[in-house]
This record gives sequence, C-alpha cells and structure tokens, in this order.
Amino acid sequence: MFVELYKEMKIFLDTANIEEIKRACETGIVDGVTTNPSLLSQDANDPIEHVKKIAEIVKGPVSVEVTATKKEEMIVQGKSIAEISPYIVVKIPLTEDGISATYELAKQGIKVNVTLIFSPSQALLAMKAGAEYISPFIGRLDDISQNGINLISDIVKIKENYKFSSKVLAASIRHPVHFAEVAKAGADVATVPPKIFWQLFKHPLTDIGLKKFLEDWNAKFKNGIK
Ligand code: G3P
Repeated sequence: MFVELYKEMKIFLDTANIEEIKRACETGIVDGVTTNPSLLSQDANDPIEHVKKIAEIVKGPVSVEVTATKKEEMIVQGKSIAEISPYIVVKIPLTEDGISATYELAKQGIKVNVTLIFSPSQALLAMKAGAEYISPFIGRLDDISQNGINLISDIVKIKENYKFSSKVLAASIRHPVHFAEVAKAGADVATVPPKIFWQLFKHPLTDIGLKKFLEDWNAKFKNGIK
C-alpha cells in the first residue's frame, strides 16, 4: 500500500495589512495569516469585519487573538471569534487561564493557536491541552540573547517523542535565515511579516543569471518562443 510520507512546511503571513495579504496571496504559496492585537490595532478599524475580509482573501487559517485574560471570558470570547469565519483559529496566550481555556475550546472542536511560547515545557503544556497550533517566538528570544532556533528543534523533538498532533508554528521570524533554520528544524508552519516574505525570493545570483540568459537568447533569436 502507498504510504504518504510527504510533509510540507506551510507559509503564513504575519500581518493584518489587507493590501500586503492580497499581494502575497497572488503568488499562490501563502497558506494562512496570523494576527495579534498589536497588528490589528495598526491596520484595522473594525476588527471583526477586518479579519472576515482577511479570511475571504487567504481562504486558509487566520489566527485572531483573545484579549480576555480570565479562563471563562477567554472561552466566551474564543467562541465568538471562532464564529467570525470557518477559517478562524482562536489565538490564546500561554497562561494558566489560557491553557484551561484552550483545553475547553479544543474539546468543543474549536481550533486554538497557543501563542507567546518561549520554552519547551510551555509548548508541551499547550500540545497536551489540545492546541491545533503552538507558536514559539524565536526573534524575541534572540532579542534577549537566547537561541530561538534551538527552541524550535526542542519542541519538534518533544512533539515527535509523544506523537502530539499540534502543529509547530514558528513565529517572530525576523529575517530569511530564521525562515530557513526553522524549516531545517522541522517546523510545520513559519509565519513571516510581508517584508521577509518578499526577501525570501531574492538572490543576487538569480538576477545576474537571468540577465545573462536573456542577453544570450536575444542576441541570437530576438523573439521568445510563442
Ligand atoms: O505574531 C506574533 C509574532 O510573530 C510577533 O513577532 O517580531 O513582534 O516578535 P515580533
């Protein structure tokens, strides 16, 4: 029997900017969007309508964070956020209340992305609570002289040890090297700000190589193949 071994790293955009999302989605390789309260406060006037629009554009998972901090309020808010669109994933911070709320929401079939993860132990708690996604922040660890990429490797190892089904979503990616490193570490998803998304396409040797190919072709054939 044929066994599917292929595993793809998904690419999410870490922004709430509609124009940026539209432009990047035109490439066909954007799988979802992550927002947070800071990003929505920068780009949205009506957050509910705004995320609805994002979901219609990307047609993939869109993480939207609760702002409540108490378990019961997180659950109520999480449920109404989940109703905005079938694509919505409720983002919940890793606190004691957040983990209990994640457990309850997951039990009810609501997809949760547990955010603000900075240690392997926190990640294990979120996976055990039934999170669909867990979001370790690598750039913010690097900011305080800790190694964000090592955190992704540790979490992937723990996930594999126990066959947890949560997806490891590498967040707080600050440059293209982070992107490649989280892929090497086995992250299931990398969420990148639009600026980094476009940087991923670039290599000076690609530009130089293409220029030379076209010069050589045009010198002999003038027109392209029709
Ligand atoms: O969406 C959360 C995360 O990606 C934030 O990144 O650069 O503010 O640490 P950053």
